[in-house]
Amino acid sequence: MKIFLNGKIVPESRAKVSVSDRGYLYGDGIYETMLCRNGRIFLLRRHIARLFRSARMIALPLPWPPQYFCSAVEKTVAANGLRDARVRVTVSRGCGAVGYAGKVTARPTLVIAASKFNGWPRRLYENGVGIIISGVRRNHPLCIPPAAKSSNCLNQVLAAQDAERRNAFEAILLNTDGYVAEGTISNIFIVKNNRLLTPSLETGILDGVTRREVIRIARRQGIVVAETLLKPFDVVNADECFITSSTLNIMPVARMAAKKFGSAKPGSKTLLLSRALERLIDKETQK
Ligand code: PDD
Repeated sequence: MKIFLNGKIVPESRAKVSVSDRGYLYGDGIYETMLCRNGRIFLLRRHIARLFRSARMIALPLPWPPQYFCSAVEKTVAANGLRDARVRVTVSRGCGAVGYAGKVTARPTLVIAASKFNGWPRRLYENGVGIIISGVRRNHPLCIPPAAKSSNCLNQVLAAQDAERRNAFEAILLNTDGYVAEGTISNIFIVKNNRLLTPSLETGILDGVTRREVIRIARRQGIVVAETLLKPFDVVNADECFITSSTLNIMPVARMAAKKFGSAKPGSKTLLLSRALERLIDKETQK
């Protein structure tokens, strides 16, 4: 694999970051994960725009314009000869003096990695996955802002361990007030009485690129959508449930802990939205 590291494409064996890098020491950085199909990145500009928003939220000045990131991503995919891939852009605050507020002298460290990715196993989409509610809470917006896609992911690591212990595909985190926030790598949606409901941004979640797209598609299909506050009770009593992310797209949820949704197969609204999103991805990533 070839990696983009600080302006150069290098073999993975030479892609090394300093032990003084603040990304390594403090999780002081931000990232984006994107889907590449047919050699083209789906919604590349939107991801890079969110990277800039994340950078602003952690007061990390980026010394390059958005177009630089877009070209670097495309160069990395091409250098690896990939068509279907998962691409991760990671920016850290670079190296600096010891201490949290230590003067940072270096430029940010920029790493772009693209690896072959043919999607998650089909059987997961056919049967739906299981989720649990984690005991770990999503950060309060006055702590590390959940809207920033920060490299400081220890909450997600702990919640994912919870999911693994309980044999679930994804762990859903509540916010500190007990409302449903999001998964460790995904946003969550439910269908109730033909309406599509999802936690509002004010709940304290990542403004998912896929989430936005699903809301837009649903409204265009005439489905009523509400960005609102949801309790675990609402999810348990939902008619349908699914989670979204840039690598999952729309992943049907068949079970929450012991509770099964509907027939436990993907519901009709979930399938309708999945197909519409797939069509959009195909269209946008055509050569
Ligand atoms: N995860 N919520 C969280 C906490 C996430 O980490 C992600 C993305 C999402 C979905 O956002 P989007 O639709 O923009 O991918 C929601 C990526 C895939 C990851 O962690 O690699």
